[in-house]
Amino acid sequence: MSTIRIDELLADWSGEEVIVRFDHDSGAWIIIAIHSTRLGPTVGGTRLKSYRRFSDALRDALRLAEGMTNKFAVFGFPRGGAKAVINVPRTFSESQRAPLLQRYGRLLNQLGEIFTTGPDVGTSSSDMDIIDSVAPGRAHSRTRSVGGSGSSAPATALGVFKAMGAASEIAFGSDSLKGRSIVVQGVGKVGETLIEMLSKDGARVVFTDVDSKRVADFKSRGFEFIRPDDAWSHPCDIFAPCALGGVLNRKTISRLKCKIVVGAANNQLDQPADAERLKKRGILYLPDFVANAGGAIAITGIEALGWSEAEARERVRGIGAVARTVLENALKDDVTPELAARRIAERHLRF
Ligand code: NAI
Repeated sequence: MSTIRIDELLADWSGEEVIVRFDHDSGAWIIIAIHSTRLGPTVGGTRLKSYRRFSDALRDALRLAEGMTNKFAVFGFPRGGAKAVINVPRTFSESQRAPLLQRYGRLLNQLGEIFTTGPDVGTSSSDMDIIDSVAPGRAHSRTRSVGGSGSSAPATALGVFKAMGAASEIAFGSDSLKGRSIVVQGVGKVGETLIEMLSKDGARVVFTDVDSKRVADFKSRGFEFIRPDDAWSHPCDIFAPCALGGVLNRKTISRLKCKIVVGAANNQLDQPADAERLKKRGILYLPDFVANAGGAIAITGIEALGWSEAEARERVRGIGAVARTVLENALKDDVTPELAARRIAERHLRF
């Protein structure tokens, strides 16, 4: 097994600081990566899962925190990027969850205004309620029963939907998704709303998932299922990764039979070089941090900036216009959309 040097991971990272705490009671490592406070206090989800090594958890936190900076900066949104990862041991039990989250909440109190969080893989709105009970104002997306905004997934799905329209306009000359063939990979919280919107709009949608219960549920609702491994090579107009990160790599990109990739999953590219691979294959790839920003923007806008729900919805719909600019710039400058989007983000970060 190759050794990953933590000092090298940190030295290579462009972010500002990392807070690490070992939680003796549960055996979990809490890592909070503050990537950039340039545009304002930072916001980022809390991911709770078991990693093989501490360095894997750290690397995930660093990468995801940078992604959050880009996500906010590309829209000129007044918040910085951060991410928390809680690396729990494999023996972690549900009875340990609330006490761990309370101790985590007290740590957030110590950090003050610099970082607020929300749900991510392995955490939910109910977990945010627990954190808020000891650290008021530090957790977004609390449940509606305690006055929070609830899940960010519907807003994320709306942003992805608008981004798909923009990509379709560039690729096919029309932003209408009526009649477009679309593969949705993962019908979880975001995928579910997305597939419903697409189908209502007249798109021809097929889906894949690895959770047999969800597969049965969506089949019973009339959606066509394809096996997870067949999703890559299924001929379609749009491939929508809404499950896991790192799914676009040398192998999967060579199998794709689509014109466009737009989806909700974070960090879809396995390696930076994969953006170029997609471009070489003539596949229009809209960077995830543009397509999936809807949830973060809507919830932070409502809970931290005082937007109404209607205003938040309007802002999320605006993802379409930003997506169009990114893709147009990419074509004009003959660069990958990833680079075009980073250039816009960097411009906002400079001012
Ligand atoms: P989720 O956990 O509710 O759904 C993920 C779905 O993907 C599950 O149904 C799971 O069974 C399925 N899945 C897992 N591995 C798969 C595979 N190999 N092939 C096909 N399906 C697979 O997560 P959620 O909230 O829907 O998020 C989806 C993605 O979007 C995640 O990567 C998340 O980080 C990202 N995201 C979510 C946001 C949100 O507002 N919920 C915001 C921004 C990004």
